[in-house]
Amino acid sequence: MSHHAIRFADLSPREAYKVIIGTVVPRPIAWVTTRSAGGVVNAAPYSFFNCLSADPPILALGVENKPDRGFKDTAWNIRETEEFTVNICDVAMTAQMAATAAPFPPEVDELQAAGLTAIPGVTVSCPRIAEAPVAFECRRHVSIAVSAAREIILGRIEMAHVREDIIDLENYHSDPAKLDAIGRMGGDGYSTTRDLFDWPTPSVAEVVEALTGR
Ligand SMILES: Cc1cc2nc3c(=O)[nH]c(=O)nc-3n(C[C@H](O)[C@H](O)[C@H](O)COP(=O)(O)O)c2cc1C
Repeated sequence: MSHHAIRFADLSPREAYKVIIGTVVPRPIAWVTTRSAGGVVNAAPYSFFNCLSADPPILALGVENKPDRGFKDTAWNIRETEEFTVNICDVAMTAQMAATAAPFPPEVDELQAAGLTAIPGVTVSCPRIAEAPVAFECRRHVSIAVSAAREIILGRIEMAHVREDIIDLENYHSDPAKLDAIGRMGGDGYSTTRDLFDWPTPSVAEVVEALTGR
């Protein structure tokens, strides 16, 4: 089967977005909690998200501006306070996570609107979501205004809160079945992390042996 060669210079931003979100899957979801300078709590999911460095520990968010080029509440709050918390969403919390994506005005506390419990941060002033299995308290490291339409925000992790049944503090191993995280597919699609397999990276000798039979 041959491939379609899609030149990105020929695509509208919407088309480029669709190619990316339909193929870079599943994307982890950062369920981001922030606080405005006035103290209003905000929550919203972001799937242009990943960990980019462990030393220093850095998480990255890609925040699209609103159609009028104004900042989303998450981006505003991070500009003003330099702090955010990335909560990880599990299968059980999908509906509440999706509810916080609705475009509530900045004065609405989306955690309250979704019936969730805010727990005060330890190293940051914004809260985390009590019901979330994991939360990372982050301090803004650097923001990159990639265009008038998008900002990439790197945050340095100050503290992680991991539910006790998930992580073994003897070896820092986390159990993916207990975490039960979801991912984002294209359109309105989601994936679970329930169909897993292990595949250790082979040594060079093992690869050569598998290829040549020697
Ligand atoms: C699963 C999911 C993932 C999303 N990912 C992103 C994203 O990566 N970037 C983005 O700008 N918006 C994303 N959105 C849309 C925002 O959550 C939505 O615009 C929200 O209203 C922003 O809220 P805020 O203004 O409180 O920050 C996503 C929505 C959902 C449901």
